[in-house]
Amino acid sequence: MCKLNFIVDNEKCIHCGLCIQDCEAKIIEFNSEKIPHILKENEKHCIKCQHCLAICPNGAISIFNKNPQNSIECSNFPDSNQLLNLIKSRRSIRNYKSENLNQETMEKLKSMLKYPPTGCNDHRLHISIVENIEVMNKIRNRVNNTIKKLFLSKTLNPLTKKFDRFKNSFISGEDLIFRNAPHMIVVSTPIDAPCAPVDPAILLSYFELYAQSLGVGTLWCGYAEICFKLMPEICEILEIPQGYKVGYVMLFGPTDRTYKRSTQPEEYEITTVQADKEISLSTLDKIKRLFWNSLR
Ligand SMILES: Cc1cc2nc3c(=O)[nH]c(=O)nc-3n(C[C@H](O)[C@H](O)[C@H](O)COP(=O)(O)O)c2cc1C
Repeated sequence: MCKLNFIVDNEKCIHCGLCIQDCEAKIIEFNSEKIPHILKENEKHCIKCQHCLAICPNGAISIFNKNPQNSIECSNFPDSNQLLNLIKSRRSIRNYKSENLNQETMEKLKSMLKYPPTGCNDHRLHISIVENIEVMNKIRNRVNNTIKKLFLSKTLNPLTKKFDRFKNSFISGEDLIFRNAPHMIVVSTPIDAPCAPVDPAILLSYFELYAQSLGVGTLWCGYAEICFKLMPEICEILEIPQGYKVGYVMLFGPTDRTYKRSTQPEEYEITTVQADKEISLSTLDKIKRLFWNSLR
């Protein structure tokens, strides 16, 4: 038994080598009896993806004490047309019922959160969920009142600059930021996470589609993200750990709002790459590319 607890059931192993082929870190090899194993000195390269456990046709491999029998069978997928219709029909919801989601749906949503991928399989994301509308009301009041006070006292601040166009809405008490949503999920990353700028968005994209498949409304909330980044007390209320930064925010909750039909978004420019051009860039053009690529 090794630190990763990479255990192969010799009775079940058919020596197919799929675990070896599929290992991202290339640390699994056959021993002299053609049983897969991992050398002690290579354990540190494991990214904990569990592909070895997942790909084994006979359920012969366990790792990190995960029994393959506790995995779900990879079958029973939604029809691709249904999935595409869900993608096309997903809408930003800005009208919510003033009530909590039922507990069963909330638990379903929480239970999917560990499945979306992260860069380097870094599972250090922090997720703050506001599960109770009364807690959400406290946060919404705190944020909205802070901005209202800034406007009323004519204090120059990045937030009043950002929301200047909506000054009257804030003063009149409209909940422009949180749209009266009863729930919120905030995903934060360690400041040194290898893919910090994208991991929260990936997680929330999966969350959004799953939520909407359950009839739960969602809204990406850039406004809240801006506020939380500028309001350290809210980060404390959200219990975001030290050394973490706010990644992204999504509002969610029960809604009556249904859309009869999909929208018809503009096409993106899609280039089918041919790679048949000779490229010779001037130094200036190289610097421009490097500069653009270095921007956040
Ligand atoms: C990253 C991101 C941030 C957003 N932030 C807000 C926001 O703060 N407030 C808001 O009302 N809508 C926000 N939206 C929703 C967009 O306005 C919306 O996605 C867009 O208008 C298209 O509408 P649809 O989502 O229904 O297709 C955001 C969307 C994304 C993807």
